[in-house]
Parts: sequence; structure tokens; C-alpha cells
Amino acid sequence: MPIRPLRWEDDALWLLDQRLLPAQERWLRFDAWPGVVAAIRDMVVRGAPAIGIAAAYGMALAARAGERNEASRGLAASRPTAVNLFWALDRMARVTPWTAGSALAEARAIEEEDRAMNRAIGRNGADLLKPGSRVLTICNTGGLATSEHGTALGVVRTAWERDRDLFVIACETRPRLQGMRLTAWELMRDGIPFRLVPDSAAASLMRAGTVDFVIAGADRIAANGDTANKIGTYALAVLARHHGIPFAIAAPTSTIDPSLETGDAIPIEHRGEEEVTTFDGVRLAPEGCPVLNPAFDVTPGSLIDWIVTERETMPAPFDFRKPSPV
Ligand code: MRU
Repeated sequence: MPIRPLRWEDDALWLLDQRLLPAQERWLRFDAWPGVVAAIRDMVVRGAPAIGIAAAYGMALAARAGERNEASRGLAASRPTAVNLFWALDRMARVTPWTAGSALAEARAIEEEDRAMNRAIGRNGADLLKPGSRVLTICNTGGLATSEHGTALGVVRTAWERDRDLFVIACETRPRLQGMRLTAWELMRDGIPFRLVPDSAAASLMRAGTVDFVIAGADRIAANGDTANKIGTYALAVLARHHGIPFAIAAPTSTIDPSLETGDAIPIEHRGEEEVTTFDGVRLAPEGCPVLNPAFDVTPGSLIDWIVTERETMPAPFDFRKPSPV
């Protein structure tokens, strides 16, 4: 069974509660859009493409309730960085005539298209990986972060399906531990060999020559290739360049935001202090400890060797100002 974070069933959106994984696989039912806003904000569902799909189904629920404008505003305010959310809301805004049936059909189409895009990203990106590659990645960019299969982890998955000769180094991804909880879970389910490592181990692993390739997902890519992704991605790109290791980003074209010239304009989400001061609900930092918790950073396009989309594998330098002819 493929790993999926959501499904539409019994006239409702069902989300796998990713906050509980891997300890529990609990599905939550949403039959009204405000619940979907809260689920995106609280990271029941997370990962740029999955957030976009969930938002589209949120709009389908809003269509049924006759609350189109309120829902669109509410969903747009749920999380700021992943542009797939706004891309999906924009697509839903163009649905005519606006009926419960047509809105649901569009949400389903967005989900289905994402499924096909991830497979294509996987095929394109897998061509970059030589058999036997040791691939370092961050966060969770797998089935859980998309409709199914994944983006950066989808590349790993496709390469594994091809010749079963690959090794993954999964960074734990402080502070929400998407690498430890979600990527490790996905890799174990697929039987892909890997080691989970603390984020801070990346530098010495690269220096020791145990990393051949770094691949990450994206939450928003500016016109010049600057890429917002999970906090820590920028550090990996700097390290990869220093050690002469290729660094790739894998994302659907819905993650590209050509309206922003550079990454400086990408809004970076700051999340709650408790994500940093506590561990599994237990407070470890001193009471009153001041905290900074940016959830994303921006990797300059100049540090990225390849951007893999469903259409192509683009080598640097990047320029997304013009619409692609493909
Ligand atoms: O805060 P999250 O877990 O939503 O962040 C997810 C990431 O940063 C992923 O790398 C990105 O969305 C790409 S997911 C295919």
C-alpha cells in the first residue's frame, strides 16, 4: 500500500494525523473547512504539496457550505511559506461554475495531478543518482508530504525501485523531527537502507567522504532559484558546496513562484517557542528562556546544482521568470 496523508471518503476529508506518527496511525475526519485550516496550522498535515491538496479539499467543503470567500481567506492564513497552498487556492478560485460538485472535482484533479507529478519527479531525479549512491536528505519529502511517493524522497524511492542499490542518510530535522519520525518511518516501510543522523552530524559525514549526493524538497522557489525549505537546508547546501558534493532540490512546478525575483521576498514562518524548549512535551529549556524558531531557511540558487521538477532536471543557473515552453 502506498503511503498517503489524505483521502476523500464519505463526503469528508480524512487526514492521517502526522503529529502522532510513527507511534499511532490515526485518521481524522473533516467535514467543514475551519477544521482543515486548524489541521494545516497545527501540522496534522504538512509538506508543501500535501498542504496544497488539503487546502483544495477545504475549498470543496466550503463550496458545500456556501462559504467560499471566508474559507479562502482562512486557508490562506494557515501557513505562509509553502506556495503550493496559494497555488491550490488560486486554482480553486478559477473553478466555474462554482458548485459543490465542480469544486470537489477540481480538488480531486489537483490530488491526481500531484500523484503523476511525483512519479515524473522521481524518474527525472533518479537519473542523477549513480548506483550505490549515499544520499543525504532533510525533513520529510515523501508520500506523507505529498499525495503519494514524494518529491526528494520520491527521487530516492524511484532510484531504489530501479536497481535497489542506494543508501540514505536521513537528518533528524530539529525541532519537529520530521526526518526522525516520518522519513525514517517511510524508509523502513519500503525497506530502503538508511541511517538516521543528528542534524549536526552532516558536516563530519561529508568530510569523511560518506555522502555522495544531497537532495531536499522545497516550499517555495523564487525566480532566480533561491529556495525556501525546512530550516537547516541552507546549512547542508553550504556544506555540500564546501565538500564538492552535488546538491539538488526536487519539487513540482507548483512550488515555483516566479512572482518573487529572489528568495529575500519569501515569507518565512516562525513557529511557537515550545517546539524548541520542549522535547516530546517535556520542557527542557529553563523557564523564560528566549527563543527564535524560524521554520524555514532560504538556500541561494547559486548553491543549488540541480532543480528537478516533473518536467525536467534543470542544471544551474536558474531563471524562472519566463513561463516554461514545455
Ligand atoms: O514544516 P513542514 O513539515 O511542512 O516542512 C516541510 C518541508 O520543508 C519539505 O521539505 C517541503 O515542504 C517539501 S515536501 C515535499
